[in-house]
Amino acid sequence: MVGRNLEEAERNVAGRVLSNRKTAPGHFHLILELPDSFTDPFPGQFVMVRIPGRTDPLLARPLSIYGFSRQEGGARLELLYRVAGKGTALLAGLHTGGELQVLGPLGRGFRIAPELQTIVLVSGGIGIAPLTFLAEHCRSLPAVPAGREIVCYAGARCSEALVGLERMEALCSRVVVTTDDGTCGACGIVTDPLGRDLPLFPPGETAVYACGPRPMLACLADMLRESPVSCQVSVEERMACGLGACLGCAVAVRSGEDSLVYARACKEGPVFDIHELDWR
Ligand SMILES: Cc1cc2nc3c(=O)[nH]c(=O)nc-3n(C[C@H](O)[C@H](O)[C@H](O)COP(=O)(O)OP(=O)(O)OC[C@H]3O[C@@H](n4cnc5c(N)ncnc54)[C@H](O)[C@@H]3O)c2cc1C
Ligand code: FES
Repeated sequence: MVGRNLEEAERNVAGRVLSNRKTAPGHFHLILELPDSFTDPFPGQFVMVRIPGRTDPLLARPLSIYGFSRQEGGARLELLYRVAGKGTALLAGLHTGGELQVLGPLGRGFRIAPELQTIVLVSGGIGIAPLTFLAEHCRSLPAVPAGREIVCYAGARCSEALVGLERMEALCSRVVVTTDDGTCGACGIVTDPLGRDLPLFPPGETAVYACGPRPMLACLADMLRESPVSCQVSVEERMACGLGACLGCAVAVRSGEDSLVYARACKEGPVFDIHELDWR
């Protein structure tokens, strides 16, 4: 417990709000200034945030890292969030100059082989946040001889829930958009166009990275069951401590033919191999 407290104290920093802009109904882009001591995050990692001095809600809320840069004497952290309940509604009320407690970076991010030729991103709604940071990271990798393609399949319920598209378009060779109600892009679910395109990607040199609602990830797992293309997913379980201590974020992981064990999404995840997780 002493070790955990130490870890928590060292990684818990005060963030100052540089801006907190509404980008779509119920969606915000928050930019924070953090002290220089904040460690460089890796795509797929997350932070736990809470408003200092408040006891309700008591627990911090997990948010993915959407962007990160370092400047003299400090760092800039970007978060993209959807107002889901009390915690995120309080975040939406933050103004420039306000304070936020930030614990992180936490968890295991995406594993990326530098020689990958095709990177396929599949996002559902706010799942676009960690995938944008991943796309940015992939753009900074040394180029592969035949060129690297980053293709994003971005889906949402409706056009208003389709956030972060412009930034993703600037990072990708191609962005394919779907909405459940057809108000933007093709009408349908995001796995439909991916399923059609999948045979066109070179299997040994392609990797899929996904983040979105559980039904979307389960559908992807089904689609890729017999595919040679590898896939990693970031899961968004409810979290309490974010540090591996409370076991509140356990997810079922396959172990052998028919047995399951539990892994902590905050520590062993939030990124897992799609076939490692149990989708039943
Ligand atoms: C690793 C990780 C990264 C995440 N990244 C982002 C992000 O970048 N942007 C973003 O907007 N959200 C992200 N989430 C989800 C975000 O943490 C929840 O929306 C938030 O905690 C809800 O808190 P609240 O107090 O506003 O709502 P609450 O009052 O706690 O809950 C409101 C509603 O949201 C649901 N909910 C609560 N927590 C989650 C969750 N973890 N996943 C799905 N539904 C939830 C509840 O079941 C309830 O229906 C992430 C979650 C995890 C675990
Ligand atoms: S949130 Fe406490 S163990 Fe993961």
